Amino acid sequence: MSEQQQFDVVVIGAGPAGYHAAIRAAQLGLKTACIDAALGKDGKPALGGTCLRVGCIPSKALLDSSRQFWNMGHLFDQHGISFDKPAIDVKKMVARKDGIVKQFTGGIAALFKANKITAFYGFGQLQPGNVVTVKQHDGSEVALKATNVILAAGSDSIELPFAKFGEHIIDNVGALDLEKVPKRLGVIGAGVIGLELGSVWKRLGAEVTILEGLPNFLAAADAEVSKVAAREFKKQGLDIKLGCKCTATEVKKDGVHIRYTDDKDAAQELVVDKLLVAVGRRAATKGLLAEGTGVQLNERGQIVVDEHCHTGVDGVWAVGDCVRGPMLAHKGFEEGIAVAELIAGLPGHVNFDTIPWVIYTEPEIAWVGKTEEQLKAEGIPYKAGSFPFAAVGRAVAMAEPAGFVKVLAHAETDTILGMHLVGANVSELVHEGVLAMEFKGSADDLARICHAHPSLSEAVHDAAMAVHKRAIHKAN
Ligand code: FAD
Ligand code: NAI
Repeated sequence: MSEQQQFDVVVIGAGPAGYHAAIRAAQLGLKTACIDAALGKDGKPALGGTCLRVGCIPSKALLDSSRQFWNMGHLFDQHGISFDKPAIDVKKMVARKDGIVKQFTGGIAALFKANKITAFYGFGQLQPGNVVTVKQHDGSEVALKATNVILAAGSDSIELPFAKFGEHIIDNVGALDLEKVPKRLGVIGAGVIGLELGSVWKRLGAEVTILEGLPNFLAAADAEVSKVAAREFKKQGLDIKLGCKCTATEVKKDGVHIRYTDDKDAAQELVVDKLLVAVGRRAATKGLLAEGTGVQLNERGQIVVDEHCHTGVDGVWAVGDCVRGPMLAHKGFEEGIAVAELIAGLPGHVNFDTIPWVIYTEPEIAWVGKTEEQLKAEGIPYKAGSFPFAAVGRAVAMAEPAGFVKVLAHAETDTILGMHLVGANVSELVHEGVLAMEFKGSADDLARICHAHPSLSEAVHDAAMAVHKRAIHKAN
């Protein structure tokens, strides 16, 4: 091993959390290195983590392609548009997705170069004394000495013991790269990945059956939102079975056989061509820490940190999916930036109360803040105002009338406590709630802010007015 190279900051992992930390640290004048082990589909190093390679961006590319295809068959007719039967070239669709991934992973490499960040391609391990060793892809090993180390190792799919990943049983990586539309796609887990990637292949013609362990659908979302979403998914033909306990799988000639008990405890078997297992992700901390670093892992394998993402070991921080909190790219962005700023002596900070959630199905689902169920459980007095997209001119003109916006405000102070949305483009609209909550805004503030007409944002405006029973476009 050659002599140790010295850095102010060494980041392990160049996913959303790690690359934000590295870029912000470099902007602040710190000599920064970032290590990543991942390779792209072409076998070459690819920065950007799960998000850019096999997560957020490629899934949204396929969601968009499949949405266009679905709309041709299901929406165009009412606009008076006709054409011969639509066809999908899956290889071309996947190649488009791969092109987008390459553009964005290459973009991170360019940003590193522009910010004078030294990239190391290989597996990093924290040693005691803030030394990081890197086993590089060419077989060589280097050691880096850092004043501060930021661990941003991300997460991996959870594998079920009775459903080992392979050609027929796949995780997000496989489900983003199918060569043809499976006739029958089974999914274990009606969470975010199951719904998004299940939707992609359903829209392209697969029969999709989702087996969910919990008795309630999308339990983390507001119950009214989940109800509307479940109704819309059913209309689209997504078969979501709740309260299922999967016990075994077997790959046979005619497909993958999944044995499970249903919500009435009856034994069932489902046979599919491909099985997507999407039952959550776990922190990718295996091999990350050498003996004696002092960094603690909890029972879920996550790195233990305080509210400032500090591990308790001098100069060692951890951010993103490998620590507590939601596994979301933008949560990692904020933590990465906050830690770089704290290292530079600035007041870095993440407000966990205003992290938005978005599920990119059709209709989209989004929320920020507390649900009605949480407010009730916590005994917080609140008022709710909601407004349906069916009464919003723009939504109807777009032929997307499903869903609603709900604003929850404190009954006494009127401060907005949550916003819950299901409908067209709510991935964008939810940020009205984020912004209002960050500025400690009230429902009355939002109600008095001028919103363009006609726009989908009018649903947010009228929902805020509905909190005080003064929505204009519906009976209060
Ligand atoms: P990661 O993105 O996992 O990056 C960690 C990086 O570190 C990886 O490149 C890994 O190779 C590298 N690494 C790990 N250990 C080492 C080591 N020891 N040495 C060197 N390198 C190492 N989130 C959203 O907010 N919006 C979405 O729309 C969304 N869609 C998703 C869709 C799918 C299919 C999936 C799977 C996830 C999605 N997510 C989404 C979640 C999002 O991808 C993650 O929350 C995010 O990528 C976490 O960022 P991170 O930097 O913590 O980790
Ligand atoms: P998830 O936690 O969203 O959903 C997993 C689902 O599987 C849950 O409903 C759970 O009850 C169910 N489940 C768990 N074990 C099961 C079992 N044995 N049998 C049947 N059902 C079982 O996890 P998912 O979908 O794997 O996604 C992982 C994470 O990635 C998400 O939580 C999210 O943080 C992130 N992500 C975010 C996206 C977004 O922001 N749009 C998109 C995709 C992923």
